[in-house]
Amino acid sequence: MTEIKSSKIDGIETFEAEINGERIEWDSELTYNSHLQTERLLSSQIGVSGEPDETLFIIIHQTMELWIKLCLHELRIVIECIKSDQLSKSFKTFDRISAIQRHMIQSWEILATLTPHDFLTFRGYLRKASGFQSHQYRELEFLLGNKNKDLIVVHKDDQVVYNTLTQVLNTPSLYDETLILLSKKGFAIPSAILDRDWSKPYEASPEIEDIWRLIYEDTEKYWELYMLAERVTSLEYYFQEWRFKHMKTVSRVIGHSTGTAGSSGVNYLLKALDLSFFPELWSMRTKLSTDKEENGPRCPL
Ligand code: HEM
Repeated sequence: MTEIKSSKIDGIETFEAEINGERIEWDSELTYNSHLQTERLLSSQIGVSGEPDETLFIIIHQTMELWIKLCLHELRIVIECIKSDQLSKSFKTFDRISAIQRHMIQSWEILATLTPHDFLTFRGYLRKASGFQSHQYRELEFLLGNKNKDLIVVHKDDQVVYNTLTQVLNTPSLYDETLILLSKKGFAIPSAILDRDWSKPYEASPEIEDIWRLIYEDTEKYWELYMLAERVTSLEYYFQEWRFKHMKTVSRVIGHSTGTAGSSGVNYLLKALDLSFFPELWSMRTKLSTDKEENGPRCPL
């Protein structure tokens, strides 16, 4: 057994030992486990069925919830940057969110190893529990702009969650803040948009589409806003990819059966693929290419 030497450094009991030819140190103040709360984390996988495949199901949901937590945290930083017009600072955080989203999309591959048979060994034990009740997912959707008051009724018995979701519902979303910033920079954002009821779903407007078009048609002049628009677009691009992979994985595991929350299952998830957080950033692209085709430079050949 390697000898452990102990000493006091700044009043903290400190240890060292020679392990694998390296001098390894640790102290009694803060350890890996106490900092990361690994005991709590690793004792939180409590199945209800006793079936071996339920562990994968629990861990994939828990890891997604952790990544959603980080997305929410980073998204709040992005929104603060946009509110204070610190766009280049926001780009670093936007890029981190995109990297998390790509990781989340990739993680569906692990769940895809759960066959319909595996899932059926424990599906009945899940009763009515469903991702539909993920309050963090709703918060993320609300922050991004998919406002839908009806979705929070399932949380009415959890006052803390209900209040948080109600507060986020009534607060400008990432897109609302982006449009407010454009208005501060002199773009003619209609007052009906700036004074709108934030709890209502955002409705696409031709004026906003024209503003994005202007920015994309003179990228040199509006470089920073153009880079912002591309990053905002990426958020939705990856969010939709996550939704698609969820729908496809669900279809692979349960076919067209109803979900544990009672919805039509895959058909319900398919409808969500038509939702858009930033509609004009997508519709503008069609107009842009049409105009370029009609008036833009011709191929010299
Ligand atoms: C075998 C695994 C899974 C199956 C069969 C499944 C199935 C479903 C179904 C059928 C719904 C629609 C609501 C319902 O009737 O239950 C749903 C919603 C949802 N699921 Fe999953 N899911 C799975 C894995 C996951 C994972 C890993 C997450 C990650 C957090 C997740 C998050 C969600 C969310 C957030 C919703 C609500 C979507 C919305 O309202 O737009 N699901 N799921």
